[in-house]
Amino acid sequence: MTKNWSPGSWRSMPIRQVPTYPDAEKLEAVEAELRNLPPLVFAGEARRLKTQLGDVANGNAFLLQGGDCAESFAEFHADKIRDTFRVLLQMSVALTFAAACPIVKVGRMAGQYAKPRSSDSETQGDVTLPSYRGDNINGIEFDEKSRVPDPERMMKGYHQAASTLNLLRAFAQGGYANLKKVHQWNLDFVGGGDAVEKYQDLADRIDEAMAFMEACGINPNSEALYGTDFYTSHESLLLRYEEALTRVDSLSGDWYDTSGHMLWIGDRTRILGEAHVEFIRGIGNPLGIKVGPTTDLDDLVKIIDVLNPTDEAGRITLICRMGAGIIEDKLPGVIQRIEEEGRKVVWSSDPMHGNTISASNGFKTRPFEDVLTEIRRFFRIHRGMGTYAGGVHFELTGQDVTECTGGAEAITEEKLADRYRTHCDPRLNASQSLELAFLIAESLKEERDERAKELKAAAAN
Ligand code: PEP
Ligand code: CO
Repeated sequence: MTKNWSPGSWRSMPIRQVPTYPDAEKLEAVEAELRNLPPLVFAGEARRLKTQLGDVANGNAFLLQGGDCAESFAEFHADKIRDTFRVLLQMSVALTFAAACPIVKVGRMAGQYAKPRSSDSETQGDVTLPSYRGDNINGIEFDEKSRVPDPERMMKGYHQAASTLNLLRAFAQGGYANLKKVHQWNLDFVGGGDAVEKYQDLADRIDEAMAFMEACGINPNSEALYGTDFYTSHESLLLRYEEALTRVDSLSGDWYDTSGHMLWIGDRTRILGEAHVEFIRGIGNPLGIKVGPTTDLDDLVKIIDVLNPTDEAGRITLICRMGAGIIEDKLPGVIQRIEEEGRKVVWSSDPMHGNTISASNGFKTRPFEDVLTEIRRFFRIHRGMGTYAGGVHFELTGQDVTECTGGAEAITEEKLADRYRTHCDPRLNASQSLELAFLIAESLKEERDERAKELKAAAAN
């Protein structure tokens, strides 16, 4: 067990990004109720994910993490869960083929409700109200009543997470994730018009590989191809909720946060000596740390040591979110330092949060080209330094929204207003997400071919 730690030890530390609940009694009652509710995930599943992320850290698997910036109560619907799950599966088929290794699939789903904000308040006209902090805290509507933090929202978040997780588990194991079906959806995507025709070649090659497998007698309905592992994750931000769902695992005797399989700490709260680092150091789940351009490297190493004193592979994923324009300045130093210190981490790229801009009509957006550029640079930098670019982290949805500009459908700033639905940051829509997966797949494949050539040349010498 972690020294001097308890699920509530964060409470005596400095903390940021916390809501102020006006009704302390109600808050305590909800926390007590949550503590009695069943765990959402089982510790054994979190350990299994940690093992699989260990494979990523060792260069033998690849991480695909994605979902909404903020899940919302209003947008909660089976179709939306299905479509996000489906697009992640479709992306993972393209990536599996290109990377020739297992893809570890982790949704930003079933718990991604709380949001850090740059300001505690929001002003519209001459009215100033508390900022919206995510649906499990307060309401997005700009009126006084909605913006008051309401503890009951944690209960609603718990139940929505439980229903979401239930459906995800059914999809993952009940036949919806069958490889042959997912591949057919990808063929439908590339057959969808001139703009995506360029991906036909890769889809055809996957088709050939599938035909070859079948010819060898590998049945697409076999257990290995019929179902898939799918994990959930969210930012460990609302610590009262996380604490209430933290339980001792009866098998290992260790504490696990059973609100999701993987938890991460955001770029605004990954601060040594403060509450958010304190809380996650004691839970056994695999952990993510967002690494933005302001990260102090000495602090980062200390945080890694606090969270992972035994240097266990798969425990820490560094989710780098620099921005396309500065990744080349910032990332090499981070990699070099972690390499020098000899810490084992998964290197993942979040090409969303460093590339957010305001469109001329006021919409917060992200240009598809910038997202792609950051990812390409991320891969190139790792290749140059001999480290393994092990994963990607996206804000995306399976819906046909218009929130990020560009992509094959060429969404313009004028079109953003058509279907701008996010409760927080702009997400890639289904076709932008798939397109990105195909583009990454091409780079991965080229890299793999290049590496194979180098190995062959070295063997010949
Ligand atoms: C997020 O992932 O939604 C987020 C707020 O990211 P960051 O902490 O990296 O800004
Ligand atoms: Co976001």
